[in-house]
Amino acid sequence: SNVHHYNFVLQNAQFTRLCETKTMLTVNGSFPGPTIHARKGDTIFVNVHNEGDYGVTIHWHGVKQPRNPWSDGPENITQCPIQPGKNFTYEIILSDEEGTLWWHAHSDWSRATVHGAIVISPARGTTYPFPAPYAEQTIIIGSWFKGDVKAVIDEAVATGGGPNISNSLTINGQPGDLYPCSEEDTYRLKVNSGRTYLLRVINAVMNEEQFFGIAGHSLTVVGQDAAYIKPITTNYIMITPGQTMDILVSANQPPSYYYIASHSFSDGAGVAFDNTTTTAIFQYNGNYSRPSAIPLPVLPIFNDTAAAENYTSRVRGLASRDHPVNVPQTINRRLYVTVSLNFLPCTEATCTGSNRLAASMNNVSFVTKPIDILQAYYRSINGVFDADFPSEPQKYFNFTGNMTSINVATARGTKVTMLNYGEAVEIVLQGTNLLAEMNHPIHLHGFSFYLVGQGKGNFNNETDPKSYNLIDPPEINTVALPRSGWAAIRFVANNPGVWFIHCHLEKHSSWGMDTVLIVRNGRTRAQSMRPPPASLPSCS
Ligand code: C2O
Ligand code: CU
Repeated sequence: SNVHHYNFVLQNAQFTRLCETKTMLTVNGSFPGPTIHARKGDTIFVNVHNEGDYGVTIHWHGVKQPRNPWSDGPENITQCPIQPGKNFTYEIILSDEEGTLWWHAHSDWSRATVHGAIVISPARGTTYPFPAPYAEQTIIIGSWFKGDVKAVIDEAVATGGGPNISNSLTINGQPGDLYPCSEEDTYRLKVNSGRTYLLRVINAVMNEEQFFGIAGHSLTVVGQDAAYIKPITTNYIMITPGQTMDILVSANQPPSYYYIASHSFSDGAGVAFDNTTTTAIFQYNGNYSRPSAIPLPVLPIFNDTAAAENYTSRVRGLASRDHPVNVPQTINRRLYVTVSLNFLPCTEATCTGSNRLAASMNNVSFVTKPIDILQAYYRSINGVFDADFPSEPQKYFNFTGNMTSINVATARGTKVTMLNYGEAVEIVLQGTNLLAEMNHPIHLHGFSFYLVGQGKGNFNNETDPKSYNLIDPPEINTVALPRSGWAAIRFVANNPGVWFIHCHLEKHSSWGMDTVLIVRNGRTRAQSMRPPPASLPSCS
């Protein structure tokens, strides 16, 4: 395996989109930011220099970071921010990840403009479990806000209301032909007739899951979250913020222009979202005239829950000799975690009058502290977190039924769950109909997990485990928790450290739809956390 070095300079740069220019935080002045290239098993050092105006951290989304939570990145969870004028070198240790991941800022909402792809090719001497593509291309779906993104969430939190929605979605940084002042710069993927391309699709959108497709072309999805899956042939995918998908597309249609398009899947009744459509062009090389009308792919409409769930229910792990499925067949511990939207009651000190929007897991709305939890744990600093996150909801009720009689208020806290090294853990995530029922993309740091089951309504611990897939479940890092439904995930807690788990819809995470798992050290050194790097950003 090899070692790679990158320099990331966080710096302000000016960008013009939708007829307006703004200054925003970038890495090395580009949007999306630079792509990191490596092979399976390599190590990457990224020296991040902050020349911006405020403290930022970077997270390597989907990299397991074995024994090394120090480089994971979530602000106030595993480190304090890199302050302006300072730098910090992340050590990104790849293990079995292969495919596409991404990196993004993990401070407030700065990930809107600070993100990029991580492309992990097969190890030298090995190849893809499918015919080698002619060429490959990263496709990053993003969000564009005309205003300053940090101000959007600061204002929402200050007023207790919902944040402004984005002004457009983007593909590789461009809104596309359907928005004003955008046509010139629409991203074009130029293809040769008869060739097959590997698209590495990343959903970096802030607050919306996406339906994505290419007019006239079928997609063959071969990987998700840097693990291979059994190929799925489909006209559209549903991809949540945080997810990455590897997709083969053959240029097998009459040479012309075809739209690549993405629009939001948002199934929360009355929940505001960006309902615009971003496009790029799938453009054949050759001599022909540009069509007067470029066809759009036919995608499910924004609230088509069934279409979203139909797609996600088809995903299976590859389960081949070279890419086995190692799902725990039995478990040592089950955590049952409700995922809810709530109000904060007006007795809270943060409240200025009316109820404020909030979110929770097991009715605890997560609060960060000025010292990161990893440091507090490692150095035994008291008063930062409590190790009493409930292993099940304090109160059982019909989570997905009619909620009118239920008090939707939540408590606040910085509560974590302690796990022993090597435990086989199952987490049953239970969506609720508190305040609003909707799909939530739940992401776990430090692990990939197997999605062994999912369903609608309330989880039934007698009957539902009987229908688990323990043969070829997909190994992923972000699960689309079905609207008013449940998802069961399994993993072995063999990575000591402090690991964040949260909704990847940024507004829900900001409202407290987060919690933390701490995996204790095992008996040997190889089962223990590495010591902290000397140059960790200070918390003062
Ligand atoms: Cu993609 Cu906690 O992050
Ligand atoms: Cu959510």
